[in-house]
Amino acid sequence: MSSLRAWMRLARSLPLPRTMAAMPCRFKYTQHQGVKGIRNRKSFYEAQMQAGQGDEEEGDMEQKEQGSPELTDMRFLDDRAYDEVAGGAMRITRDTASSQQVLILQPYVKWAAKRQNSPNSDVRPEDQLAEASALVHSLPNWQVAKALKVPLESLEKKTLFGSGKLMELKALVADLRQERHLTCLFVSKGTLSFAQKRFLEAEFRLPVMDRYSVVIQILRLHATSAEARLQVAMAELPYIWAQAKDASVTQTRRQGYALTDLQKEILRTRERKLRAELDRVRRQRQLLRQKRKQQNYPIVAVVGYTNAGKTSLIKALTVEDALQPRNQLFATLDVTAHAGCLPCNLEVIYMDTVGFMSDLPTGLFECFVATLEDAMLADVIVHVQDLSHPCHAAQRSHVEATLRSLAFNVAGGDSTASQLPPIIDVYNKCDLVSSIPEAASDAAAVHRISARSQTGLEHLLEDIEQQILTSTGRRKLQMRVPNGGPEMAWLYKNAAVVETIADEENPERLMMHVVISQRTLDQFKREFLR
Ligand code: GTP
Repeated sequence: MSSLRAWMRLARSLPLPRTMAAMPCRFKYTQHQGVKGIRNRKSFYEAQMQAGQGDEEEGDMEQKEQGSPELTDMRFLDDRAYDEVAGGAMRITRDTASSQQVLILQPYVKWAAKRQNSPNSDVRPEDQLAEASALVHSLPNWQVAKALKVPLESLEKKTLFGSGKLMELKALVADLRQERHLTCLFVSKGTLSFAQKRFLEAEFRLPVMDRYSVVIQILRLHATSAEARLQVAMAELPYIWAQAKDASVTQTRRQGYALTDLQKEILRTRERKLRAELDRVRRQRQLLRQKRKQQNYPIVAVVGYTNAGKTSLIKALTVEDALQPRNQLFATLDVTAHAGCLPCNLEVIYMDTVGFMSDLPTGLFECFVATLEDAMLADVIVHVQDLSHPCHAAQRSHVEATLRSLAFNVAGGDSTASQLPPIIDVYNKCDLVSSIPEAASDAAAVHRISARSQTGLEHLLEDIEQQILTSTGRRKLQMRVPNGGPEMAWLYKNAAVVETIADEENPERLMMHVVISQRTLDQFKREFLR
């Protein structure tokens, strides 16, 4: 049976009628089990992509799910000729199993005044270095041989390091080669120019990588769904073109090489195919949005800096055992949907999203924008923050700024129309901090939780509920209906039933406390109160 149809059937049959005795009268966090059936769906976009375009196509869905070449043929992604071009520009291969001993160099501008003009001026170099180490640790078999901050006059210099510093580093590299079998250098800077990379590789006689290429390596490893693979493949191209452009400049000085015409054609053809596939994904995503609207499920998008604990929070709120939080950066590359239940018994969908990271060129994340657009159209956004992180404030500002610019994009560049859904700020990992950092202590409206030890979740759920009711125009109502009558069954099927109690004045009637939207209430009236 097609995944989409299975999902639709389950969705249509929700909320599931329960026996009156089993209906929770008051909210208890542990009672919430989520929605049967759709809870464990890994990626419902992926299923959607494979399942086809909509109800009108139900007839041929099964065939498509079993592997329609049109929708699932991703063979063009595995292209050796392209891999050679990409490897030359990014210094990475598809072989993620081989082990690497990495020397991380974190360059930073020495003088505070100059640093203020650089991106990330509010993040200390030691924190950037820690983030770079976390990136390396996110790759299996990659180890940090040594991690070092390197103060510089400027980051723009062609050789990056001055001659004195270069001598020092060369001696260090020679030692590490002996001691740790050093295999590569990771200069933790958004992107290095081709000239810088070439120069450093000639000096150190080792492959040199920048943040962009290391992140691409991680994304390649974590991209398992068709959509994520397409997005990562697309994210590689701007980098390769930029490096090639830079290479052609150096070629005039007889220092480097440029792409041949054939290699350029390989890149262009790949780009065309990727764009066509991604357009298709985008159209399917829009269809899916419409369907969700018809299904009337409230959507809670969970966003945040990478490794903040988004997946852990969703796992805690939905009791989804299949979710596996990982201590790795960019562990989540797909938007995945997980059903949960609010204290009022209203079923909601939590969307897990790709994490943000600063000091990455915007081109890298443009390809994931389509998935994040869904977050922009959610009913509520939950912004998860790692309170225990030394750069918590900077991470928070980075996510907020990115959300604003995403909302601007979604509104088609119209600043008057760009509006974010209500945002609930959540400070996570409170179990790791003994006191709230000063910079974070004044925010009274923020929830302080620990997804791991499951504290602070009740209040958070109540707040999510409040925001959802407001933003979706639902209300809590008491309705007196005949005991065992069709009205009762209808309400169980179409509204969220909070509580059902006997009517003391009339034993043939029941008092039902429900959460219901105006549209559903009107339907009820048309059906029963004519
Ligand atoms: P990405 O998908 O990479 O963006 O990560 P994420 O934001 O989904 O984070 P995830 O839930 O995968 O958690 C990252 C790491 O933080 C995991 O090792 C979790 O076990 C850990 N973690 C999450 N929440 C908490 C918490 O409340 N306390 C502690 N101590 N650790 C937590």
